[in-house]
Parts: sequence; structure tokens; C-alpha cells
Amino acid sequence: MAINKVAVIGAGVMGAAIAAQLTNAGVPVYLLDIVPEQATNRNIVAETAIQKLLKAEPAAFMHKNNARLITPGNIEDHLSLLADVDWVIEAIVEKPQVKQALYKKLVAVCHKDCVISSNTSTLPLSVLVDGLPESFAAQFMITHFFNPPRYMRLLELVTSPKTRPELISTVQHFADIALGKNCVLCKDTPGFIANRIGIFWLQCGILEAIELGLTVEQADNIIAAPFGIPKTGIFGLLDLIGLDLIPPILSSMTRALPAEDAFQPISQLPTRIQDMIAAGLTGRKGKGGFYRLNAERIKESIDLNTGEYSASHKPKTIKETNLQAVLSSSDKESQYAWRVLSKTLAYTASLVPEIADDIVTIDAAMRDGYNWTLGPFELLDQIGVDWFVEKLQAEQRLVPPLLWKKQALYLVNSGQLHFATLTGLYQPIRRDPGLLTLVDMKRQHSSLLSNDSASLWDIGDGVACLEFHSKMNTLDMDSMALIRQSIDKVKNAFTALVIHNEGEHFSAGANLGLLVQAIHNQDWAAVEQLIIQGQQTYKALKYAPFPVVAAPSGLALGGGCEILLHCDAVQAHAELYMGLVEVGVGLIPGWGGCKEYLRRWLMFPKLPKGPIPPVVKAFETIGLAKVSKSAVEAKELLFLSHTDGITMNKSRLLADAKRKALSLCNNYTPPQPCVYALPGKTAEVLLGMSTRSLHAQGKATPYDLTIAAQLAYVLSGGDCDMTEPLSEDDMLALELNAFVTLVKQPNTLARLEHMLKTGKPLRN
Ligand code: NAI
Repeated sequence: MAINKVAVIGAGVMGAAIAAQLTNAGVPVYLLDIVPEQATNRNIVAETAIQKLLKAEPAAFMHKNNARLITPGNIEDHLSLLADVDWVIEAIVEKPQVKQALYKKLVAVCHKDCVISSNTSTLPLSVLVDGLPESFAAQFMITHFFNPPRYMRLLELVTSPKTRPELISTVQHFADIALGKNCVLCKDTPGFIANRIGIFWLQCGILEAIELGLTVEQADNIIAAPFGIPKTGIFGLLDLIGLDLIPPILSSMTRALPAEDAFQPISQLPTRIQDMIAAGLTGRKGKGGFYRLNAERIKESIDLNTGEYSASHKPKTIKETNLQAVLSSSDKESQYAWRVLSKTLAYTASLVPEIADDIVTIDAAMRDGYNWTLGPFELLDQIGVDWFVEKLQAEQRLVPPLLWKKQALYLVNSGQLHFATLTGLYQPIRRDPGLLTLVDMKRQHSSLLSNDSASLWDIGDGVACLEFHSKMNTLDMDSMALIRQSIDKVKNAFTALVIHNEGEHFSAGANLGLLVQAIHNQDWAAVEQLIIQGQQTYKALKYAPFPVVAAPSGLALGGGCEILLHCDAVQAHAELYMGLVEVGVGLIPGWGGCKEYLRRWLMFPKLPKGPIPPVVKAFETIGLAKVSKSAVEAKELLFLSHTDGITMNKSRLLADAKRKALSLCNNYTPPQPCVYALPGKTAEVLLGMSTRSLHAQGKATPYDLTIAAQLAYVLSGGDCDMTEPLSEDDMLALELNAFVTLVKQPNTLARLEHMLKTGKPLRN
């Protein structure tokens, strides 16, 4: 069974965005909603939703053309269309009677192999199927997406014993491969897994902050980075979710959970927050929440006692990494962290096996549903289970049976990760055979090569994997050295190389700190060396006698983008933000980026004839520092080639890249060097005119013109003309020259320093 066409019913916040993610997977979707009273356009709700999706931030569509895959409609006129869909996702109001009334209509139109699912976040499956025919229960399940569905990786799947197994596996497979979700099978318990824990955690966070008299900033500062929790913390996250969504979830959980559940005593929303909701202070989508920007766009925060807003003061980031120290110091923040986390983690431990059979499932749900770096049990291991239990005992608190043995929850045995079960015995974690992770590899083998910035690993079947692991995976001379050593190693002992890491970002580009240091020392020879080493290293990679496939995810900027341009192929994660952004720091791409990117446009068949259009295209993209907002956009910008692959599920990226590398091994020959027949002065003049016009419109600063002039000179081929073709080395020499010229300008230094200090470009 395959999913070729889907219908989403309910074009609200979730339904519309789920429809967008389906189109990102290339699947056509019907999006149906109600017909509003007296509407002249009966599809108005769904049509408006699509218009909103096109403007959503962060973007819901990976490419705006995907919107064309959605057919808007309404449930009065278009239900018959559902006869040929393979999956109907219901995402309407959270009212069982309304949902059931819709299901009864679906039974009449959907074919028997069509999956029908609800996106409910609080209603049990048993309630939803109650009173409906057996045949409906056989095709029904809950598919609970997290908001925003494009970016949140968790999909909670709840089924009943009546749900047909082949329909469950069809959805699991589709959600994993096509939608890129990590699908977690949940039991039919209130809030399923992630919200059962997440809502408990948020409630604890609110109540304890009020009790201890913490500011929202203090609370969000401590329940964040030290514990691998996103920097939104508790209150920032509530603002993001929308405060108004919390009361219905709380009351539904209060109703559904037994009286003795530890959630009951903390289930009341404080009056302060009820008042905020009543006043429209529902968070980012409302008039502000715990935080807001005032009329002068200054960030303010609310006083939890008085409800007054005043300028927000961010406390100092906590640098302490010893979690026991963070949790046991006597200050108020530490007491807060201990109270919130001890309650949350003990509660979570008490929920095995009620909400999931094992701790691995719960950890996965919290990582993917709440973006925690570590799941609750991984966090407990990080804190130290014995220390945690002893502290609970010292406070005469109940210790959940799972923790009675005071032993680690995960351990590595014979190179394989095992998890603790309720019996105290450990079981190996079984991975899907299609999955390959560096983390697992590292448990089995030591690295082949390694330094501070990068390492080389054996990932089996004759393939090696080069991993960057500096901060933000920035590239420095250590990275370059390891690339060169890896080329030698792979040449002698492997058949192919994959470049991949499991960080959030592939690479933020060159390490600018080193460059700034060289500029301060006026050490121009060092700057030249930095460029030449990078150019030669990337060139060696390009012409290595074996296939090189990169597998990037997240940011691939500047030097991180340039290395990808030199690979034989890329297997990209769908979430790839790739670009040559050097102009933002007063530079041009200098590690072969201009040369390789221009080559792509020179070979692009769909441009008007002649040497100028490719130069103009490359100039526009680099000059405007365009960054793709997805891998599909990276293809459109020619950062990726049309034969490069895209993987929706990040967990599958390395395995897919390895497969691609192996497919290139047969009779592999390195690429032919490119010859550049460029227009020279004519193009340079033309590009100069276009940037001056941007300047005249106020869209370019005077210093932008200086950088653009250098970029135009390089991309036009310098002082050549069409009759004097340039070699790749000639192009590299032009890049080097322009780079060194710009580096000597004070405005470039100012841009570099500003970027290092603020993370944002300076428009000087
Ligand atoms: P919403 O209020 O934004 O959208 C609901 C949509 O359903 C509206 O456009 C409404 O006109 C339409 N609708 C109502 N009755 C209908 C009917 N009989 N037939 C067709 N359309 C109908 O709601 P939201 O937030 O998108 O929630 C939808 C579902 O997703 C709910 O079950 C909710 O619990 C769940 N959910 C919501 C999340 C969130 O963050 N908002 C997260 C995860 C799940």
C-alpha cells in the first residue's frame, strides 16, 4: 500500500501546515474546511489558509510552488473527492462530537484501504472510535503532529488493537521516508508521551517560579542551556505555543488522569496567567505574553506578581557544566531548577511502562517533540542517577521503581548501546537496518584520524566518513589538514568518502576569528596562506581518485558551502540552508567558491546564449548573499545539482549518502578540469552599472559597491576576453587577489568584527 494522495480536513493552524508538509514530500493534497455562513466563496477558509501558508515564518513550504499541489475545497461540496485518497487527516476543532460527526461522513466515502487519522492532541482514540463501525476502527489511528509540522520531527502514532497492521506500517513508512518524521508508537493514554511530560514540566515551571519569586528571565535562563533545553526555557516556550492553548489541554488531562496522578495537584493554571489570556496576552501571536516588544521595539517582560511589564534583563548565561553543582547550589535559581527537574524527571520515570514500554521511546519523543538535546532519561544519566535518587530520598520523596537500583539508564556493552528495563536488566537498542549513525559507529571503532576540528571514521563497506566537530563546525587549518590526510587515507584503504556530521549545522563557514587575528597583525602572508591552503585542499578533494559525497543538514555557509560545491555529489537533508554569504563580512568566496559556482551557471542549459548571463546569475546570488531556505531551493539556486539527492528524514542522511557514494564507485573517474571562457571587461562594466543602480535606490551601501566591484572582476574573468580561456588555477588566482585586497580594507575588518560579536552582518 502506498500513500499517493492525501486529504486534510480542517485548514487551521495545524491542518494547513500539515498539508504544506505533505506537498514538501511531493504529494497532492485536498484541503477542506467548513463553508462559513453566508459565504459567497464556499472554499474561502481553505483558500485563505493557503495564502497564509505562503507568508508563514518560518516557511511552511520548502518551495512556494508546492502550494499548487494543494486543492482547496469544503466539506459540503467536495467530500466525494475523498474516494480516491489514501489517507485522510482530520485536524478540526478538539471536540469529540464534531470529530465523530465528520467520521460518519467519511465512512460513506473513503475506500476501505484509506487510512483515516486524527491530529488530536488530547482526545483518546477509544473515545474517537466509540460507537462507530468496526470497519472504521480498522482504518483509524491518531497521528499527532507537533507545531510547526515542517520543523518538528516527532509524529506520535496511536493505534488500537483493531487498527489494521498493514495500514499502521504504511503510515509509519510514509511518515519516516516521505515526511521525514521520527514516528513514535504511543499508548492511548492522556497527552500521549511528549505532552504528558511536557505539560507537566511547563506547569511545574510556572508554579515554582511564582512560588520562589523568580523573574521569567531567571527561570528561562536556568531551565535551558545547562540541561540541553532550548533557550526559550519555560516562559519563552509558552509564548511560542500560545497561552490560550494551555487551559483546554490542562482540563482534558485533569479529566482523563486518575485522582492519584502526580499531575492533579499541579493542574490549575495560576490566576495571573488566566488574566493574561483574558486580556489577549496569549504570547507571540497575541498582544505579547511573558515577553513582548514595546512600541519602541524594546524587549519587555511581565512581573509574575504584579502583571506589570518592564524592560527585560537577561541574567548572565550559566557556564557551569556540572549538573549536580547547578542543581544543588543554594541560590534561588538552583533551587528552582532542582524543584522543576526533580519533579519532572521523577514523574517521567514513574510513567514507564504506563505511557511507553521503554525509556528509549520516551527520550526520542522529548528530543523530537520538545527539542530537548537529551531525553529525560539521558538527562538523568548526565546528572547521575545515584545522586538524583539520594537527593530525593534525603527530601523524603518517593523514588520511582525504575530508579530503585540507582544504576545508569544507558550503558555501552561490546560497542552497543543498551537501555535499562524495569527489571534492572539491560537490553540492546535495536536500530532500523536502514539507519546509520556516527554516534553508533563511534561506540564500535576509534577514529582513523583526528584533530581538534575534524575526524575520519570507518563507516563500513569501504566507505570512510569525514566529520567536522569544531564549534558550529567552522573550518580552520586543522580542518584543512584533516581533509588532506583523509584524502591520502581513503586513496590507500577505502573506495569512497562521505562528508557528514551529526551537529545541528553542517558548517557555519570559515573560522573568522583566525582571519581577524591575522588582519590585526597585518600578517598578509598568513591571510594568503589561509586562502591558498583552502583552495588547494578543496581542489585536491575535487580531483581525488575516489567519489566524494557530502551529506549536509542545517547551515552550510561560506566555506561550508564551498566544500559542497567541490564534491562529486551531495545527498542533502531537506532542511539545508546553503549560501555563499562572504559579502556580508566584506569578502568574496576565496576557497574556489566563485570558480565552482560560476562553473555551474556556465554549464546550465536553460540560460540565454552567450557568456554574460551565467556571470550575471553567479554575481546576483553571491552579491546578494542568497541562502537557500531548503534543499529544493538550493537546487534552484544551483548550489546543488539536479542529480543530487534529498533526504527528508535526517536520521537517514548518512545511510543515503553512503549508498550514493557506493553507487559512484564503479569505474569512477574524477571530473575533467573546467576551462572558463569569460567576457572580461564587458561584463564587469555591466555588473558595475547594476550595482550602482542598486546603490542609487538605497539598496546597497558604498562599501557594498567596493566588494561588488571585486566580485565582478573575479566572475568576469579579470582582464581577459572570450578568446583567452582561463584555467581553474587562473580563477583561483583571481579569487585570492580580490580576497587579499578586501581584507586590507578597514570596512571589511569592521564587518568581520561585528559578525564575530553579534552574529549579524554590518551594513557599512
Ligand atoms: P484551529 O482552530 O486553528 O483550526 C481548526 C479548523 O477546523 C478551523 O479552520 C475550523 O474552521 C475547522 N473546522 C471546524 N469544524 C470543522 C468541521 N466539522 N469540518 C471541517 N473543518 C472544521 O485548530 P488547530 O490548532 O489547527 O487544531 C486542530 C487539531 O489539531 C485539534 O485536534 C488540536 O488538538 C490538534 N493539535 C493542535 C496543535 C497546535 O499547536 N495548535 C498541536 C497538535 C495538535
